[in-house]
Amino acid sequence: MRVFNFSAGPSALPLSVLEQAQKELLNYENSGMSITEMSHRGKVFMKVNEEANSLLRELMNIPEDYSVLFVQGGASQQFAAVPLNLLSNGKADYILTGSFAQKAYEEGTKYGDMSVAASSKDANYTFIPNMSDVKFRDGIDYVHTTWNNTIFGTRYTELPKTNATIVSDMSSCILSEEIDVKNFGLIYAGAQKNIAPAGLTIVIVKKELLGKAMPICPTMLNYAIHDKNDSLYNTPPCFPIYVSMLVFRWLKQLGGVKAIQEINREKAKMLYDFIDNSSFYTNKVNVKDRSIMNVPFVSPSVELDAKFVSEATSAGLVSLKGHRLVGGMRASIYNAMPIEGVKALIEFMKKFEMENK
Ligand SMILES: Cc1ncc(COP(=O)(O)O)c(C=O)c1O
Repeated sequence: MRVFNFSAGPSALPLSVLEQAQKELLNYENSGMSITEMSHRGKVFMKVNEEANSLLRELMNIPEDYSVLFVQGGASQQFAAVPLNLLSNGKADYILTGSFAQKAYEEGTKYGDMSVAASSKDANYTFIPNMSDVKFRDGIDYVHTTWNNTIFGTRYTELPKTNATIVSDMSSCILSEEIDVKNFGLIYAGAQKNIAPAGLTIVIVKKELLGKAMPICPTMLNYAIHDKNDSLYNTPPCFPIYVSMLVFRWLKQLGGVKAIQEINREKAKMLYDFIDNSSFYTNKVNVKDRSIMNVPFVSPSVELDAKFVSEATSAGLVSLKGHRLVGGMRASIYNAMPIEGVKALIEFMKKFEMENK
């Protein structure tokens, strides 16, 4: 009795992954215990840690001169970890494209001279600023971007024009489309949307940026420490790392990021085309900047929005309520959402429109 789960995060995982985790829960690879019950320094878990790491490298084509770290504290912890590790000149520029970008900026101001290079706040973050128009200060340590804006349903399609290190929060789009890691100095992402249960945060960082942390940087936020210890400096989030390994295997078997990108683009196109051709539903995001992971939309009234969410839930289409900053509905259609889920949503939207026009 599984529903179609459109939650923005934590989010749906592939059914086959959940089934595999269920099958192995009591006795992982003949160890006589669960993966959640054993030492993270034992051979069995170390193998899981290594496989998860190397599969992510393979899937994202991560160059040798980058480290992949598995840490904790969510993407929110990275709002502090990034400046604490990367500020050698003491200043960085931020592009504000949503509330998580705003939070990253505010956290950053505790540690250095931060400046807002561009913002779409005045338009309730319905677009990504045009990169050709965004200018950065000289001598900055990095430019911070939020590649996909989970709440507002936008995503970057262009890199900022700068020679400075580009940092990107990819929490809600990691592994959804092909990206060239080499364009970024650091990528971070909470795992709970496209990768695993909550509790794991991925950091992909160019090795040359390591070892320059500010003296006040807490040990647990210091990338160089995690790198030196293969992400096992302290007890890691073992179960999310294990599930991430299963998800990476699933994705590899599917054909990798190239294959899921095609599926994701098709799912998003179907939904946006339907919305655009309807006089009942509206998506307010600048077309070029539309996210393929999070699709916000509204009906003609707040009352109908509430009715939509309630009736959709009864029909097995859950977690469609929009974020309070945007209102209406939001369909998060991450990697694990099958195309059938999007088709079912569109069918429901058609029926709801007919009954409520
Ligand atoms: C783009 C983005 N950044 C940061 C966060 C915060 O992540 P966490 O809850 O893992 O700290 C989220 C959460 O939804 C997000 O979508």
